[in-house]
Amino acid sequence: MKLNGQVTDSLDFYQGHDPHELIRTYGSPLYVYNERIFRKNCQDLKQMCPYPNFEVNYSIKANSNLTLLRIALEEGLHADATSPGEIAVLEAAGYSANKIFFIPNNVSAEEMQYAVERDILVSIESLSQLETYGRVNPGGRVALRFNPGVGSGHHKNVVTGGKNTKFGINEEYIPEAKKIIAAHGLQVAGINQHIGSAILDVNIFMASVERVLEIARNFEGLEFIDLGGGFGIPYKKQQGEEPLDLKALGQALAQFMEKFSQAYRGDGKQLTFMVEPGRYIPAESGILLGTVYATKNNGNEKYIGTDLGFAVLMRPVLYDAYHEIEIYCNGDSTASRNSETVHIVGNICETGDYIAKERLLPGIQEGDVLGVLDAGAYGYSMASQYNHRLRPAEILIRENGNVQLIRRRDTIEDLLQNMIL
Ligand code: LLP
Repeated sequence: MKLNGQVTDSLDFYQGHDPHELIRTYGSPLYVYNERIFRKNCQDLKQMCPYPNFEVNYSIKANSNLTLLRIALEEGLHADATSPGEIAVLEAAGYSANKIFFIPNNVSAEEMQYAVERDILVSIESLSQLETYGRVNPGGRVALRFNPGVGSGHHKNVVTGGKNTKFGINEEYIPEAKKIIAAHGLQVAGINQHIGSAILDVNIFMASVERVLEIARNFEGLEFIDLGGGFGIPYKKQQGEEPLDLKALGQALAQFMEKFSQAYRGDGKQLTFMVEPGRYIPAESGILLGTVYATKNNGNEKYIGTDLGFAVLMRPVLYDAYHEIEIYCNGDSTASRNSETVHIVGNICETGDYIAKERLLPGIQEGDVLGVLDAGAYGYSMASQYNHRLRPAEILIRENGNVQLIRRRDTIEDLLQNMIL
């Protein structure tokens, strides 16, 4: 029995499955994904922009489950990777080198070499790393990540453009970058940027696009321009927060792209434009389920004690991020379920361990299952084994309604496997 399940009901997220039953089968906590929603998000992005040479690179740091990566590949997406580990995972999911764009920061020559020997294009974002790359791959192709001078994001720690960030080459260093490029005979194949995360304001994104196109004019022979990711989703959906108008953004982008492409080459050949969203694809297709094991009062505060600690979902603690909570009752009784303001906390031994603060919710009782919405992005991918908690299983509700285990839960043996006594 759901108390406030309007969001999942309207999406038919569970496709008839009972969250309690899923937890009995796969353990608690549990990440549940919906294939239909995941595919639709991929398709919406692929189709958002009418410009003919438009590519979508999925930024797999948001969620790198192999089965989900395979689905994104089937939907025609390419991917970006931030580490050799992510490259290896992409290869395991079936992505070929020409579908992987390596966008690291502050890496060793060996890590660059890892991509170069696989023929994977590397983006470089500082002059010192450009020198290193020139030594690793003299005469090779390279992409340059610029800081367009504007940034945006849901929290200061995820703003990656503008003044207070370690990312990107500033425009004023273009002459020096060109010297290093010439010294090593490099060919600049593309320009890329990424200004931050969870952006719902199209104007800020467009301002960065204008800036990066200005920067691109300084380079000849470009094959592509990558405008970055950061497309936001409405986390406060129970309160009616509006989604990003992807179509409007796509139309606006297409105009810039057409105009720029014509002026840039003038020979009828069109540049490729790319975006690299992470969150937008898996966020709304994933829900984190957990179990209520305790309720308690401390003075005027009421705590709901669950297994949803920050080892499982870190975003609320790290960024004060907001996730809506649905309540799935234990049994059919909704007696004494008057709304009250509660803190939903986890099982980690830190006072800061919360999943939702000061929420007015229908009365939650021991044995209830909670659904944390929009947990598909930066959920499992940022999970840890802190306090030696087992990372949860991940399951996928297939389009035909079947449930498939797509990552097993950690075992106690997993916790011990790298330790040496
Ligand atoms: N491209 C680059 C170069 C990035 O660094 C990122 C994210 C993306 C694309 C994808 O950004 P998205 O579309 O997902 O916003 N852990 C944080 C988000 C950190 C994002 C880091 N970079 C969170 O949970 O909100």
